[in-house]
Amino acid sequence: MPTSIDLFAKVSGHERAEMLRAAREADLLPFFRTVESPAMPVVEMEGAPRIMLASNNYLGLTGDERVMRGAEDALHRYGTGLTGSRLMNGTTPLHLQLEAELADWMGTDDALVFTTGHQANVGTLGTLLDAKDTVIVDSADHASILDGVQLSKAKMRPFRHSRLDKLERALQRAALDGGGVLVVVDGVFSMEGDVAPLVDVVELCERHGARLMVDEAHGAGVLGARGAGACELLGVEERVDLRMGTFSKSLAACGGFIAGSAEVIDYLRFSSRAFLFTASGVPAALGAALAALRIIRSEEGPALLAKALENASYLREGLTSLGFLTLAGEPVRVAGQDAPRSVITPIVPVVVGDDWKAGLLWRALYDRGVFTNCALHPAVPPGGALLRTSVMATHDRATLDRALDAFAHVKREFEAEHGPLPAPGEH
Ligand SMILES: Cc1ncc(COP(=O)(O)O)c(C=O)c1O
Repeated sequence: MPTSIDLFAKVSGHERAEMLRAAREADLLPFFRTVESPAMPVVEMEGAPRIMLASNNYLGLTGDERVMRGAEDALHRYGTGLTGSRLMNGTTPLHLQLEAELADWMGTDDALVFTTGHQANVGTLGTLLDAKDTVIVDSADHASILDGVQLSKAKMRPFRHSRLDKLERALQRAALDGGGVLVVVDGVFSMEGDVAPLVDVVELCERHGARLMVDEAHGAGVLGARGAGACELLGVEERVDLRMGTFSKSLAACGGFIAGSAEVIDYLRFSSRAFLFTASGVPAALGAALAALRIIRSEEGPALLAKALENASYLREGLTSLGFLTLAGEPVRVAGQDAPRSVITPIVPVVVGDDWKAGLLWRALYDRGVFTNCALHPAVPPGGALLRTSVMATHDRATLDRALDAFAHVKREFEAEHGPLPAPGEH
């Protein structure tokens, strides 16, 4: 008998369809906007220059001559694509060099390069965990972590964002589940820009015999004296079992990696389906990532990282003094130090709350020449819509001032029409 349910019914009837249609009609959709120039502090978008406050290009290296030359050299040496998986015919000396330098940077035995950061998470978690294991995740962890967990069929125990009491309870329960236990947290949370309380997380994992993996997508290339990420900054590198990173942010390219012990990485090398059954990343991406990594690790690295964080402080202070509510993480402990410290990251989220209002505010800024990212549920909790702004080391003060002027102007007009936006101290 033929089925009476049309598989495609969900396509037109999903919960967001109406909102999406209305947003399209009003030209308020903040997504899939076309960028017509290289990723720089000011980009050409849809026929006009816009100040880019929505990029993960934290060090601004996508336009760096040396990084472009790294891509070009790799392109000329290895061609446009490798047309095969790393296992069969897609491993080049460039991969091996990059893996060696990544492992050295992370201070681990070994590292494995994947085609994307998403695949690094899916391919690590989907392989190391199985249905008998338990994985404990922070509720704000990145989607690719959750995708890997789902693939593994492990029992998932989520805990409320950065709530250590909830993490401890999850660890106690997980101990009774009967399998291996892994905790996975983002080092820097991608939307809110706050840092995980890694010293406490490490201590809890050690006390309860759980393994720990930290996603350093937004921390690597930004935090720590070597730029190795949140684990380095907070002094827990040696106590974290696995560190994941991506090339799509500070490393100015596309790809991802997992770093850890030789035994675990080699296991992944021969067992991870998201690694084995997909084509290698294009040589140009690997060449660019290697060149960017070398800049981060060179003498000029620390100043570049510091510039990105200085710009973030400047933008945050500017937005707060204009009366916007920006999110800042709670101070976190650093291993061996008594007082917790506040950590600045390049991500400066502006809280709006309501989805539709966030779209309106986004559009008003866009029209004034500032491009931000609009983060709506499920990227943030329901009712927690925000404009995610982020800076690059290459933004100059004049450009940031122009962006702040646009925010000031838009706020006045927006509040006159739609009522007050959340203000500092309201969160
Ligand atoms: C925290 C986090 N992890 C993983 C990823 C996936 O990385 P990629 O975009 O390189 O696939 C991202 C990027 O969106 C991210 O923000």
